[in-house]
Amino acid sequence: MILVTGGTGLVGAHLLYHLIKDNETIRAIYRSEERIEAVKKIFSYYTDDASLISKIEWFKADITDIPAMIPAFVGVEKVYHCAAFISFNPKDYKEMRKVNIHGTAIIVNLSIDAKIRKLCFVGSIASVGDALNGQLITEENEWNKELDNSGYSITKFGAEMEVWRASQEEVEVVIVNPGIILGSGFWTSGSGKLFSQVYKGFKYYTDGITGFVGVKDVVKSMILLMNSDVKNERFILVSENKSYKEVLFLIADTWGVKRPSKKIKAWQTNVFWRLSSFLTIFSEKAPLLSKYSAKSAHEVSKYSSEKIKQTMNFQFKEIQTVVKDVCSNFNK
Ligand SMILES: NC(=O)c1ccc[n+]([C@@H]2O[C@H](COP(=O)([O-])OP(=O)(O)OC[C@H]3O[C@@H](n4cnc5c(N)ncnc54)[C@H](OP(=O)(O)O)[C@@H]3O)[C@@H](O)[C@H]2O)c1
Repeated sequence: MILVTGGTGLVGAHLLYHLIKDNETIRAIYRSEERIEAVKKIFSYYTDDASLISKIEWFKADITDIPAMIPAFVGVEKVYHCAAFISFNPKDYKEMRKVNIHGTAIIVNLSIDAKIRKLCFVGSIASVGDALNGQLITEENEWNKELDNSGYSITKFGAEMEVWRASQEEVEVVIVNPGIILGSGFWTSGSGKLFSQVYKGFKYYTDGITGFVGVKDVVKSMILLMNSDVKNERFILVSENKSYKEVLFLIADTWGVKRPSKKIKAWQTNVFWRLSSFLTIFSEKAPLLSKYSAKSAHEVSKYSSEKIKQTMNFQFKEIQTVVKDVCSNFNK
């Protein structure tokens, strides 16, 4: 039996499809029925066989609720831990610590108690360090706690530390650190917003560069690592390093809609995030742009995925191909 957390999110839902297709026996954690509907939608991008999803044993629990989570581990051999709270709003920091660090500690403790064989954790490039002199960032670049890190980055690093603890307690672990994940579904959150905004005629772009990867490559590499002898290693998952401008233009060109045409300069985003944060003093709403999303929009960080390519002989789909695939599902 395989346990999947975060099965109702972008990575988890695509992972569930690939695991079910491989005839694995799956238990997936969920919190609300509506989110299972979203998983059905994602399955429909792959297959007309609506019965596939009924092969999943859905288990209602919050990962931070220990008594609720204990029975989820009965009979489990492998765990894929994809659940996380992703936010760049400083107001969410406490909740992110709870879900990402404390929640992962719970998954680790229960995995140790249940003597599960192997745990796959979805980390992030946000918990990998920078490289000197513009070199490519690898798994060896250590995260630096002295820097002005976002709450998301701090909590993803803290979660990864919990996972390494499992490796000291006879649970084999593999950690993947994906770049920005592009995939179909969830068009109003995460990277899905890039697609829906361009479709609606979004006008702005920045020149910041980061690593991008397709969700299908993320889940395929996770399954490959879990089914291999590889243990206690982490792997950056980035297909290509691209600027936001290049990715937004690729999306626009694929649909034949207008490319974003106005370049936003770093000082403009700096003014905007400050104004946006100031205005939240008078409302409950999250700022439209936070300090850290503003910063990352202009940062240039380039990553190497040589380790997974060499270790697993893994080939990533080009971002252009990923974008075409995602765009083709947008209006379905
Ligand atoms: N998306 C990216 O670009 C990206 C890039 C790098 C790394 N990652 C990492 O990849 C993983 C998956 O991300 P994603 O894009 O799939 O995120 P997502 O679409 O936001 O999904 C998050 C998942 O976590 C679940 N979750 C959150 N809090 C929970 C809690 N307290 N108890 C139980 N479940 C909870 C959510 O459940 P509900 O459906 O009930 O909300 C959802 O299933 C995360 O670890 C993230 O840090 C993502």
